[in-house]
Amino acid sequence: MNVAIVGAGALGSLVGGLLARQGHAVWLYNPSNVEHVKAIQARGLLIETPEGDVWRVEVPAAAQIYEIPGPVELLGVFVKVYATRDALERAKPLIAPNTWVLSLQNGVGIEELLRRYAPAGRALRGTTAQGATLVAPGRVRWAGRGPTRLGPLSPEALDEVALNELKGIVRALDAAGLEARYEPDVERALWEKLLVNAAINPLTALLGVPNGRLVEDPELRAILRDVVREALPVAQAHGVPLAPEEAIALVEGVCRATARNLSSMLQDVRRGRPTEIDFISGPIVREGERLGVPTPLQRLLWRLVRWLHPTPAPRPPR
Ligand code: PAF
Repeated sequence: MNVAIVGAGALGSLVGGLLARQGHAVWLYNPSNVEHVKAIQARGLLIETPEGDVWRVEVPAAAQIYEIPGPVELLGVFVKVYATRDALERAKPLIAPNTWVLSLQNGVGIEELLRRYAPAGRALRGTTAQGATLVAPGRVRWAGRGPTRLGPLSPEALDEVALNELKGIVRALDAAGLEARYEPDVERALWEKLLVNAAINPLTALLGVPNGRLVEDPELRAILRDVVREALPVAQAHGVPLAPEEAIALVEGVCRATARNLSSMLQDVRRGRPTEIDFISGPIVREGERLGVPTPLQRLLWRLVRWLHPTPAPRPPR
C-alpha cells in the first residue's frame, strides 16, 4: 500500500514507521520540523518500543510535499487538529479518486473538512490510545499500546468492494501493531474519546500535573468527576451508551493507565504551542447549548485555557 503521513510528529511517525516495517511504501511529511525530517533521511526513523528495544526503520521523509510521489492509497492526517485545513490543502496533489483519507486526531469538528477533501465515502475517522513521544529528531518513543478504532464518516457512500478495501486497511494497521479494529459507529467512538479528553486535557494543562494526579489527589479527583458528570449527557446524545459511574470509571482508568504521561494539551502548553481546546471543550459547550444541557464547568475550562494560551483559529466561547 502507498501511504503518506501528513504531520509526521510523534504519533504520525510511529504509525508511518510501523507500516513501513510491514513493507508498505510510506512517506513521512513534516514541513514544520525539518530537523526531524533530516534526521530520518540521514539514519532512518528510530522507534523505542514499549519493551525497551530500538528499531531502525528505513522510511523516506520530506519537508516539501512535491518530493512525495503521488497519488497515494492512504493519506494519514496527523497534524494538530486546528491545522487540518492547511494540511489537507497542501496534500491535495497526493489525493486521487481511490485515496482513503484517515484522521485519528483528537477532538471533534473536522469531519466536514475531511469529507470535502476526501473522494466520496473515503473519509475515515477514528481514535487511538497508542502513545507516542518525539524524544529527539528522528527518534520516537512508543510510550504505550492501546486500541485504534476507525471507520468511514459516510458509510452509505461505500459499496461492498470499497468496504472490503477499507477492511484491508484496518487489517494492515492491525498487523503493524496498532490494535486496529473497524468501527461502524464513528460518532460514538469520537464522542467517547472526546469525553476523556475534555476531562483530562484542560485540567492537566491548567494545573501542570501528569494525568495520574487527577485520581491520586482527592480534591482533583472530585473536580474530575464533576467535569465528567457534566459533559456526559452531551456525549450520550451522540451515542455514548455509558452511565455516569461507567463514564467516571472510563476516564479514571485512562488517568491510571497513563499516570506518568503529560497530556497532549499540557505538552502543547509547555512547548508554547497552541492547544486543541477549541475542538475539545468547544463541541461540548456548543452541543450542550443546542441540546439545552448547561456545561458551565466545561465553558470555564475552555475560557481559562484560551486565556492562558490563545489558539490560532478563534472560536471564542460566548
Ligand atoms: O490527548 C491526550 O493526551 C490523550 O488523548 C490522553 C488519553 C488524554 C492521554 O494523555
